[in-house]
Amino acid sequence: MSEQAKTEILQMFRDGGSIPVDLFQMVTGRRLGGGTTRDVFEYRLDDSLVIKYETNARSFANVMEWEAWQKLTYDRELSKWLAPCHHISPCGSILIQSKTEPLPRAKYPKKIPKLFHDTKYQNWGWWKKRIVCHDYALLGTFEGGNPSRLVNADWWG
Ligand SMILES: Nc1ncnc2c1ncn2[C@@H]1O[C@H](COP(=O)(O)OP(=O)(O)O)[C@@H](O)[C@H]1O
Ligand SMILES: [Mg+2]
Repeated sequence: MSEQAKTEILQMFRDGGSIPVDLFQMVTGRRLGGGTTRDVFEYRLDDSLVIKYETNARSFANVMEWEAWQKLTYDRELSKWLAPCHHISPCGSILIQSKTEPLPRAKYPKKIPKLFHDTKYQNWGWWKKRIVCHDYALLGTFEGGNPSRLVNADWWG
């Protein structure tokens, strides 16, 4: 496709009309949840994935989550505690991540790596026979000690 044709199609998207809405409906399945920054749905084109839409301006949660995944993906200890991220849109408002399943509260582990400060039940789920965090936008910077060290988890929510 020529660059000009691509520009013309992009302009049609920017003008609104039926294309953006149609695309949204084509890729978006059942709503799985929402938090302060994202709304999350099943991804219609692959039911092992979710699509996360940023709903809160200037929070950049999708971008931070993507960056955290890029940084930790080769960390053998920590990456196994994260729901993998697969794609992010050019402006970061849409993120595709592996879908986790809810798990009973009794099954949450007593200990998790020190890296994680967010121990809200809803931010964790079950994926490939283990518990993972699916909301890790705000891991922040880690100071002091070994971030993989297991510490007591104070689950809430
Ligand atoms: N990877 C996922 N698989 C299944 N459900 C998810 C996933 N990510 C998020 N959710 C659901 O969507 C909710 C909001 O997503 P979350 O990442 O916590 O966004 P926020 O930053 O707004 O808190 C979660 O509490 C959870 O119910
Ligand atoms: Mg959350």
